[in-house]
Parts: sequence; C-alpha cells; structure tokens
Amino acid sequence: MALLNVEDYRQEARRLLPRFVFDYLDGGSEDEVAVKENRAAFEQIRLTPRLLNDVSVRDQSVDWFGRRLPTPIVIAPTGLNGLYRKDGDILLARAAARLGIPFALSTASNNSIEQVANASNGDLWFQLYVMNRDFADQLVDRALAASFSHLVLTVDVPMGGKRERDERNNFIMPFHFRPKTIADVLCHPRWLWNVGRHGAPAMANLATATITDPNTQAALLSRKMDASFDWDDLKRLRDRWPRRLLVKGLLHPADAERAVSLGVDAVVVSNHGGRQLDAAPAPIEVLPGFSAVKAPIVVDSGIRRGSDIVKAMSLGASAVMIGRAALFGLATGGEKGVVDVVGLLQVEIDRTLALMGQRTFNSRS
Ligand SMILES: Cc1cc2nc3c(=O)[nH]c(=O)nc-3n(C[C@H](O)[C@H](O)[C@H](O)COP(=O)(O)O)c2cc1C
Repeated sequence: MALLNVEDYRQEARRLLPRFVFDYLDGGSEDEVAVKENRAAFEQIRLTPRLLNDVSVRDQSVDWFGRRLPTPIVIAPTGLNGLYRKDGDILLARAAARLGIPFALSTASNNSIEQVANASNGDLWFQLYVMNRDFADQLVDRALAASFSHLVLTVDVPMGGKRERDERNNFIMPFHFRPKTIADVLCHPRWLWNVGRHGAPAMANLATATITDPNTQAALLSRKMDASFDWDDLKRLRDRWPRRLLVKGLLHPADAERAVSLGVDAVVVSNHGGRQLDAAPAPIEVLPGFSAVKAPIVVDSGIRRGSDIVKAMSLGASAVMIGRAALFGLATGGEKGVVDVVGLLQVEIDRTLALMGQRTFNSRS
C-alpha cells in the first residue's frame, strides 16, 4: 500500500506492531476524549486564502533563536522508543539531523544521553522528568556535558495519566509476558526480528546513572514524578541550566507568563497528546490566548497534517512538536520512515502555503 499521509503510516504501524506496543504508542488516558478533541480542534479550523500573490517560490523555514530551521517542526520527546526499533532514539536523532530539525530525547529513553550525542551530529534537546531532585541534577549535568542545546522540562506529569489500554494489555511496569502477549508477538515476525529478539529495552539513562535511590527506576517506569516540584524548583533549574530552557505541558497563559518571568526561554503548549488529563483542552484551541506571552510558543498534540502546522503558525506558534507522527514513521521504516513522514508533512505545508497565497510563514497579506 502506498503511504500517502500520516494516517497511512499509522495503519502500517498498527499492522506491524504487537497490539500492546501499538496501544502504548497510539493511546491516551481514560476515555481518550482529549485525543479525539486534539484532532477535532484542528479539523474545525478553516484557513481563508488570500490569492493573486506570487507564490511560485515558497520557503517554510523559520527563525528559532537566531538559527534557521528548514521547517517549524521539532521531534517531540517520547519514552520507550526502543519498543518500535532497536536504538529507536538514535534512529530518530539521526533522522532529525538529516532533516536539519531538532530532536528532543526523553528522560525515559532507551538510548542514553551520551549514546545519542555520540551517534548524531544534529541539534539535540533533552526532556527532563523530575522523579528525584538529585537524579534530575545529574541528568541536567550530563545533558550539558553532552552538548545538548535545549532543556525541556515537562510539567504535566505530577502523576501518570490513567492509560486503560495499557492496563488492559497488562503493559504496566514491571512488565511480565502473559501467554496472550507471547501469541501477539509471534504474530508480528518483523517486530520480533527488529526489536523483540534483543529483549526488553532498558531505561538507558538510569542504567548509566549513579543514583543511590532504588525507587527512582520504579518511579520512572510507572511515570511517578516528584509531585512536589514547584515554581521555586523551576527557578533553581533555571539557575543550573545555562542554555535554552523550555517548559512543556502548560495550557494556561498565566502559567506561561510566570514561567517566562522566571527566565524560561520558550513554552510548549501541550496536553501530552491526550495522555495525561483527559479533560484538558486541545492546545491548538487555547493557543490564541498565549498571544501576550513574550516568548516563542511551541504547540503540539494532534498534528497529523501539514495544514495543521500552517494552522498552528497562523494562530501564533513559532514551531510545533510532533510525537506520534514521527513514531509511526519509526515503526514503519526506521530512520528512513521518520525522514519520509517529516518530508511528507513538509510537502503538505508547502502546498498549503501555496493554496493560501503565502510564500513564507511571515508573508500573510
Ligand atoms: C508514546 C509516547 C510517549 C511519550 N513520552 C513522553 C515523554 O517521555 N516525555 C514527554 O515530555 N512527553 C512524552 N510524550 C508526549 C509527547 O512529547 C508529545 O507531547 C505528544 O506526543 C504530542 O502529541 P501527538 O502525539 O499527537 O503529536 C509521549 C507521547 C507518546 C505518544
């Protein structure tokens, strides 16, 4: 089957992955209302073209802190990327480097900070979960030493969302294979070859860390963060990390203003792809409310089309993050699959700009 759009890649990923892996990738929390709303909110936005402009040459590149990105796309931080391909984090980082876009490595990655830095020469961002403040400090220092350019603090996981698909599949940590799961795996020989035969992927950042607290690994595996982390801790993090700092997971403009007043460089308006608070609004819906925030706004959750990215940029975003779209590419075709998915989004952006009568993201008339 020709893979013409992100949904085609999703269907292909569904075919190739064992059920428990696909459900972990694709699912959301509770009734998955936020997952559906994220899509519905994009689909309801209309773009009104302004025509008779010369759009024979288009340029979708954007400025990001004085640097040119070829397209306003960042690969979002996602945990357990080794479930789709061996060394999934490295493959994503290499794909991003080939595309000239940033890749954000999750705290819950299966390749370590150092492995990814050694394997890629692209722009690397590190996403921080704070389970334990000492361990978080170690991670920050390691990301600094490994030349990561941005730190992304995710703040919408004081507790893990209730992922009922994972519970039904018994995909909860520590993971134990049940007969049903073994049958599922045996029905997916390509996955078994690419991933399963290497065993369960490890939380690589923990494996190489010098942490004394044995609860930290369990906390990361079950997404149990330090729920006492607050604005004062953010201030301390700002002091510790000298490069660009982003806060990810805000949905209220007042929180964004406060973060920026503490020296945060940019904000990611996100509901975690509908995987945390199921009653959260769609980020694209609340984005216009962030217009007074004096910092770049990145938006994510639900982006599946180039036109979604044009919509986000029209509503004030400086860039977007893509989570599942990149992972569908990874699951389907490894590094090349990621390059193909982002390439497809770029072609869709280009066509949408032309049909909108827009040469660039700044040339709206
Ligand atoms: C499988 C999966 C794992 C994720 N893991 C993390 C993570 O470790 N850290 C984080 O900040 N966000 C994580 N996210 C959220 C993404 O960074 C991003 O906000 C979300 O995927 C955007 O929505 P989209 O998937 O609809 O593009 C994860 C999302 C998915 C789908």
